[in-house]
Amino acid sequence: MESYLRLGDQLRAAYDGASGVSIETGAARAVVFCGMGGSAAAGDLVSAAYADDVPVPLEIRRGYGLPAWVGRDTVVICLSYSGDTEETLSAYDEAASRGAHVVAISSGGELAARAARSGAPHLAVPGDAPQPRAALGSLTGAAIGALVSAGVLDEAGEQVEQALADLRGQLERLGFDVPTERDRSKQIASFVGSRIPVIWGSEGVSWPAAWRWKCAFNENAKIPAFASALPELNHHEVVGWTKGHADAFCLVVLREPGEHPSVQARLDATLPEIRAADVEVLEVRAEEGRSPLARGLELMLAGDVASAYHAIERGMDPAPIDAIARVKARLAEGR
Ligand code: F6R
Repeated sequence: MESYLRLGDQLRAAYDGASGVSIETGAARAVVFCGMGGSAAAGDLVSAAYADDVPVPLEIRRGYGLPAWVGRDTVVICLSYSGDTEETLSAYDEAASRGAHVVAISSGGELAARAARSGAPHLAVPGDAPQPRAALGSLTGAAIGALVSAGVLDEAGEQVEQALADLRGQLERLGFDVPTERDRSKQIASFVGSRIPVIWGSEGVSWPAAWRWKCAFNENAKIPAFASALPELNHHEVVGWTKGHADAFCLVVLREPGEHPSVQARLDATLPEIRAADVEVLEVRAEEGRSPLARGLELMLAGDVASAYHAIERGMDPAPIDAIARVKARLAEGR
């Protein structure tokens, strides 16, 4: 929980460290972020937050491989907090073998070692977070800094400082000693209660935030959670919200001022279906962020802390992720 509250300090330190590094990229025609889980969340957020500001596509890839178009004119930024995630290492090797401009971001591990061996830039983030997902500020700051260092994004220090200022109020209203009436995350935790949350975002930063909430409720609260996005969900999911699920599910809708203007009209047209199914709906708005970055962080932080409270209120430790370790162990045994 404490690490989530250090999001701002993490962001500033990592941005300052990464944006000062010189990264030779030639004329990059695309940027691909590679990563999994908590590390991928930073790539998701940065891709969505800066999509309208940079002249090249920003893509995020989760998995072992890379699409055929990745080559010498592509910057591939591999994010792995531990530096030991096999899918990200495989994507790193693939990018390096194609002559792409590879940048590694990790707290150490095999990714740092491979970058050192091949002379690729490695942007180190502090290794003191209890879990990769608690290093969102560091990974995001390093990812933004990497874009600046690679010459893809203009200097972003002012925007990072502005995002920190925008987050300050929210950070003051989070914490064990803040009463529930003032702490939105405690209210969200109680709203979810014993139900499975379905989180909706939309085009822009609320979608990566919705996915982050899903992952945070999975990993911190140890419950199933699902995420989907408008307008796509209007073409299938809306049909599935029928009576009989009200005790099992609840819906959280993430909103932010930068969302597409169609979102309000779509919600007005869609929520009657959800209410007819008696499913409870909670809207969570990014209220303070002046930039897509700040609003994305604001929404992500709200979900991170709410899911941690959800665990704590049930007497559980949010940190452990034993099931992930068991899956990795079984994979290793099978080799
Ligand atoms: C654990 C977590 C996971 C990891 C994922 C990839 O807190 O959030 O989703 O992020 O297993 O590991 P890293 O980030 O070390 O590459």
